[in-house]
Amino acid sequence: MKKILYITIIIIIIIIILTILFIRKTNNKIINYNPFKDYPFYKEALLKRYYEYQKINNTNDKDTIIRVNMSLDKPFYTDTKKITNPDSYTVLVNKYRYLDKDYIPKDLIETHKYSKGGIKLRKIVYDQFVEMANDAKKEDLNIRIISAYRPYEYQENLYNNYLKKDSKENVDTYSARSGYSEHQTGLSIDIDNIYTDYNKFHITLEYKWMMDNAYKYGFILRYPENKENITGFKYESWHYRYVGTSIATYIHNHNITFDEYYYEFLDN
Ligand code: DAL
Ligand code: ZN
Repeated sequence: MKKILYITIIIIIIIIILTILFIRKTNNKIINYNPFKDYPFYKEALLKRYYEYQKINNTNDKDTIIRVNMSLDKPFYTDTKKITNPDSYTVLVNKYRYLDKDYIPKDLIETHKYSKGGIKLRKIVYDQFVEMANDAKKEDLNIRIISAYRPYEYQENLYNNYLKKDSKENVDTYSARSGYSEHQTGLSIDIDNIYTDYNKFHITLEYKWMMDNAYKYGFILRYPENKENITGFKYESWHYRYVGTSIATYIHNHNITFDEYYYEFLDN
């Protein structure tokens, strides 16, 4: 009788030990589970920030990594980095990445048609724009450049002039601080259709045509509607950025911003 009791006690002890071991193993698995690590753009050093960002914003794993890599978990204009490849056609300028005060593209040319006077931009961008404007013209549509390359000091004046009439909080939603404007790259253009105020470009037929065709010439809408939380700027139906046809096509087909594309494919 005693023997049976001993055996039962031993069996119970073994079961308890095995249960404890099993629970500890499962818990470890949960603690070590990292849903982010298999993405090619995952950065081990940012893991804690991925968890925190996801908890607050409820984003999927991929968007969480891309946005934290972009520094979107920090306020705009903090955690900023100086751009080291300003001449690249795929350079990213945003509220976390700035150009040197002295940066001027080397291949700027002056526009001669489909443009207001006194405008400069990089040669490839103008060549592509003229081809695009020629094709639009065949459908009786007019697109014209109203602003393109803007030197650092020009942007500084522009921003400071807005500050005279509006709060900094508001100005920051539509004008970039100097050094942080894509216009300094010579790869960006603001356009209109000649007849309509540029900030109403979204109501024009030319805008509709641009939405369907701009990517074929290498242009993207840089500050789309409903992406303000990513780009940091209000919707600008008139501001286009040259990135080349292959990247523009991808961005067009996937409805993403250039910031997201950059941190998915170009950041290293
Ligand atoms: N309006 C755009 C964001 C700029 O100032 O560069
Ligand atoms: Zn612009």
